[in-house]
Amino acid sequence: MAITQAILPVAGLGTRFLPWTKSVPKEMLPIGNQPIIARIVDECIDAGIMDICFVISHGKEMIPQFFYEHPELEAELEKRGKLEQLKHLQKYDDANFHVVYQEEQLGDGHAILQAADWVNSDTVAILFGDDLFTGERSGLQQLIDAYDLLPEDERGAMVALEDLPEEAICHKGIVDIECDHATIKNLKTIKGLVEKPKLKDAPSSLGIVGRYLIPRSTFDVLPTVAVGYDTSHSQGAAETLLAAGYQEIRLIDALKSQLGSVPIHGLECKGTRLDTGTPEGYVHAVQVLGVLG
Ligand code: UTP
Repeated sequence: MAITQAILPVAGLGTRFLPWTKSVPKEMLPIGNQPIIARIVDECIDAGIMDICFVISHGKEMIPQFFYEHPELEAELEKRGKLEQLKHLQKYDDANFHVVYQEEQLGDGHAILQAADWVNSDTVAILFGDDLFTGERSGLQQLIDAYDLLPEDERGAMVALEDLPEEAICHKGIVDIECDHATIKNLKTIKGLVEKPKLKDAPSSLGIVGRYLIPRSTFDVLPTVAVGYDTSHSQGAAETLLAAGYQEIRLIDALKSQLGSVPIHGLECKGTRLDTGTPEGYVHAVQVLGVLG
């Protein structure tokens, strides 16, 4: 069963990049001559996914706009013989882009939930904009390849994993492994998930990194897993939100509540992951990808 749809939640406030993100989304920061988000969309298209839904917030319309056809510019490039540039622009012509809004930033799961009505397939890919992968096969491609090898009755959710250094464990969702998969290399059966544990409480050093395949049933679970706003996220504002009774919905909590009823696997991905979610991580990504292209 081919995976044909992907949701890209890009509605976050991007507070770590302020003041830049006051007017320009962090996903539009350039690496070479393309924005970060184009690399994520390319990852989808290269994996054969042509139905892409952006979850955006007001003011982030330039993200989908980047991918829309621009007939006047294309005609002008053709007239001027700039065919290489024209080819770049036309790369996205065959993809279908859809946009939904997340009116309040109430977590990654809440963002995904906004796209529930758009989903018409049994399994959908989720790609978060902060994580980029380098290497022979993208993170998404590696997940899809492993998913395709799974027997039908073992297919459920699948997450990309990375063996994290100690200092990163308290910032990520960490998995508790039941066993290695009998036949598929680097694939693990997951029996537990812990969001941002203290190092001493972490069940392993394997953290979830930016790419998921989720079954449609996860959309039914998401509304049921709202929790008090996580104060470890964005300092200051979080306390106010918590005091105001705000809740957030996290994808990891939905998957956690599906453990036991839906098979959940984690794939330790090959290649290097680059975290563009912080200014330091972004600078590093520019250095690495500037060399690799
Ligand atoms: P982050 O946790 O990095 O949040 O979200 P952020 O708002 O982008 O950045 P900071 O923490 O304020 O600096 C991870 C991904 O989830 C999306 C973000 O756009 C990003 O791609 N997200 C997060 C949403 O779409 N909506 C949310 O409510 C939260």
